[in-house]
Amino acid sequence: MTDTPRKILVTSALPYANGPIHLGHLVEYIQTDIWVRFQKLRGHQCHYVCADDTHGTPIMLRAEKEGITPEQLIARVWAEHKADFDGFLVEFDNYYSTNTPETRHYADDIYTKLKAAGLIEVRAIEQYFDPVKEMFLPDRFIKGECPKCHTKDQYGDSCEACGTTYSPTDLINPYSAVSGATPIRKQSDHHFFKLGACADFLRGWIKPPQVQAESANKLAEWLDAGLSDWDISRDAPYFGFEIPGAPGKYYYVWLDAPIGYMGSFRNYCDRNGLDFDAFWDKQKAAQAGTELYHFIGKDILYFHALFWPAELESAGYRTPTGVFAHGFLTVNGTKMSKSRGTFITASSFLQHLNPEWLRYYFAAKLGNGVDDIDLNLEDFVARVNSDLIGKYVNIAARTASFIGKRFDGRLGTHDDSTNLESEITSAAGTIAEAYEQREYGKAVREIMRLADLANQYVDGNKPWELAKDPANDTRLHAICTTTLQVFRDLSIYLKPILPKVVAQVEQFLGTGALSWADIDTRLPAGHSVNAYSHLMTRIDAKQIDALIAANTQSMAPTPDSHSQVRHAEHQQHETQPTMDPIAETISIDDFAKVDLRVARIAAAAYVEGADKLLQLTLDLGGETRNVFAGIRSAYDPNDLVGRLTVMVANLAPRKMKFGLSEGMVLAAGPGGKELFILSPDDGAQPGMRIK
Ligand code: 2FM
Ligand code: ZN
Repeated sequence: MTDTPRKILVTSALPYANGPIHLGHLVEYIQTDIWVRFQKLRGHQCHYVCADDTHGTPIMLRAEKEGITPEQLIARVWAEHKADFDGFLVEFDNYYSTNTPETRHYADDIYTKLKAAGLIEVRAIEQYFDPVKEMFLPDRFIKGECPKCHTKDQYGDSCEACGTTYSPTDLINPYSAVSGATPIRKQSDHHFFKLGACADFLRGWIKPPQVQAESANKLAEWLDAGLSDWDISRDAPYFGFEIPGAPGKYYYVWLDAPIGYMGSFRNYCDRNGLDFDAFWDKQKAAQAGTELYHFIGKDILYFHALFWPAELESAGYRTPTGVFAHGFLTVNGTKMSKSRGTFITASSFLQHLNPEWLRYYFAAKLGNGVDDIDLNLEDFVARVNSDLIGKYVNIAARTASFIGKRFDGRLGTHDDSTNLESEITSAAGTIAEAYEQREYGKAVREIMRLADLANQYVDGNKPWELAKDPANDTRLHAICTTTLQVFRDLSIYLKPILPKVVAQVEQFLGTGALSWADIDTRLPAGHSVNAYSHLMTRIDAKQIDALIAANTQSMAPTPDSHSQVRHAEHQQHETQPTMDPIAETISIDDFAKVDLRVARIAAAAYVEGADKLLQLTLDLGGETRNVFAGIRSAYDPNDLVGRLTVMVANLAPRKMKFGLSEGMVLAAGPGGKELFILSPDDGAQPGMRIK
């Protein structure tokens, strides 16, 4: 390693606090975590910070829907995210939140400095406004008919049926996805950051090593096309930080999410006595030689490689040393899909499978470019079983017991008739360089090549044969010693990827925490090792089946083409399917469990405080049920009273904010005005069973 430890600050993109962590997210966190662990293993001072990105309209609306405050929602999601990251051994030095005094401080500071530099402009723009909810609507909360292919219920930014992108004002018959109301056009003042004024600085900045070569080309194209002013404010009601001196105006995501990197690091510094300025102040950072790296998805390159450095530079802060973008995750060659069960959440993976299997597989697939990576589930099983169990773990499993049983747990002298040990150690430089360059696939291939050499050595020397005759003890002892030495070295190489397994190896070998520098040391004769217990099990294909089954949701909204694409202007959305795939086949017995009844709607009313619900009293021919149905956007209560419809009568009652819902009425359609409740033919009577 280099003589002077580097001082490095690393971030991963802040996940939104309105949904669970899934395998798509984990590509980035695992990629970053491996890099950070590698730097620490090399003896560098490396700090890894992140936070939940907590602000925005979707979080505000979701909290409202759940009947809790946004603060309660983000606290709950923070705990879920943290548990997922811990489960996947993603070891942040600080996992924080953007809804904190530190982030507010730096957001205000940067905003004020940009304003003083003449880079903030206020001008009125016209946007859609929901007259019922009394709020401006983000594009994703406006729906209507696609102006091109005329598919109904498309979002305000793009059509999921034909792929056309447009602005919400192009939609035919637009309606608010929040209240169902027809939006009106309304003017309001917005604050803009004059990004175009930073073009000269950016032109010089967007080059390797600050960005990858392929990013540099894309960024230059954007720059050539001209940088528009960037809208950085949103109007109340909004969950976020109010802009100083601008009542009712709030910072929009890109003026507080990346600043969350600073907020999280500030909080970490304050708790650990570190010097924040040495990492962020322009002059001090240059003097101290600190480095700053952001790991991001390729979809947020614009913000991290144009907007963010421009903001930092203009406000007198240091700019990033490197912005590393990665590609998206596909599963079995296609986008993750809830209906296929491949939209896999972190928590469900942890319930079924070992997280280090995924860390290894992702590492094996990751390079330093922006190509997408594929999790092919069959290949995943084969590769983990063959590499980790068949090659790596096997090296220890084949020899450890001889040391334990025959040599009282003590190592002997090394086998000096082989150059295996030096072959393994001489690869350290190549492997380190591959990690440094984020070429983990290369590192893994090299490590597995070495593991093959180690297994060939064991095969060639057949310790199990030697063990049959005590006259071979010296030779047996040397071979097992060299094998465990080599196993230790491979464990050092794999430690950034497999921290938990390697912690078990450290325990077994009695080495204490291994560092990269240990590659240059030999385990001495007489060194005691502990009893070996199996380090890792094989993946059973049945575990994959169970994982897919647990993640299959045939009737839920699809996680969308956008699940990994976080557009700036229409972030934090869930999209609807264009065509729900037919659900898995069920038996007649499964169907018979659902007790469907004809019901008469005896009463129907609006529910105060619920913009989607109607309260229905359903008469089942003797008994009545209270049901809250999400059909307000399509029905006037007066039109429903007296109608016959169909309900699920044996659904477990559900406690809602507004009371107990004792069943469910059935309706078809994508939502909004297009919801259609079912009606039986004439003659059907309340209470009749539908079979
Ligand atoms: O795109 C996203 O996921 C946002 N939550 C922003 C992440 S990066 C950073 F700037 F916070
Ligand atoms: Zn269309």
